[in-house]
Amino acid sequence: MPKESLAFAIDYPTLADARPTLESLSGLIGYAKIGLELFTREGPDAVKQTRAAGIDVFLDLKLHDIPETVERAVAGAAALDARLLTIHCSGGPGMIERAVKRAQADSSRLTLVGVTVLTSLDAADLEAVGVGASPADQVLRLATMAWKSGLRAFVCSPREVGALRAALGSDAILVTPGIRPAGTATHDQKRAATPRSAIVDGADILVVGRPIRDAASPPQVTRQILAEVDEALALRRAGSP
Ligand code: C5P
Repeated sequence: MPKESLAFAIDYPTLADARPTLESLSGLIGYAKIGLELFTREGPDAVKQTRAAGIDVFLDLKLHDIPETVERAVAGAAALDARLLTIHCSGGPGMIERAVKRAQADSSRLTLVGVTVLTSLDAADLEAVGVGASPADQVLRLATMAWKSGLRAFVCSPREVGALRAALGSDAILVTPGIRPAGTATHDQKRAATPRSAIVDGADILVVGRPIRDAASPPQVTRQILAEVDEALALRRAGSP
């Protein structure tokens, strides 16, 4: 189902602002991604109301804390029936193992998604926090470590999909933001990819925000993206780019 490959980033200040678009997309998106802006304003209600609208939740909280605290936050997200939850791989093996174990417990349907190096960081930023590796090498190092600790899903830019797929294999679930349908504005996304190329390159879930949020008709743009995803999935299955 192509819609399972699409997460709509509900980047709105309040749930009331998000609701009309969200309702218009019911049945068209696999997940609604709730990030820090909405969650810090609306809290768990944002998740509950999205679930009540029949939409699965991708909770993008990028957890990074001591293992005990992260484990408890994972339990909270599972209790809210979130399906995807981001954690920072730089929290280390102990934090990741505890988080993964908790997500798998209690028959929750929660999958943890690892964030490696934020795309806002360049080599100079990494150097400033004591990391001498290049961003590309650090992405691979963190993802490989997290994989060994039990994590199976990762956020990455469309450009990193190939390297991560090669390093982690076909079981990895790769989630990519920075998606722009051909001919639409790229905004601040410097390395945008089309839905088609991201899927053909091996992405599993596309995160799309502004191209849908700011469209004159969000359902129409979403249907176009889904059609592109469907076509790309067929190409991928056939093994031809
Ligand atoms: O509006 P746009 O499609 O650019 O939204 C992409 C979403 O993915 C936003 O919620 C943004 O915070 C998130 N994101 C991103 N780039 C990353 C990680 C997350 O754009 N590297």
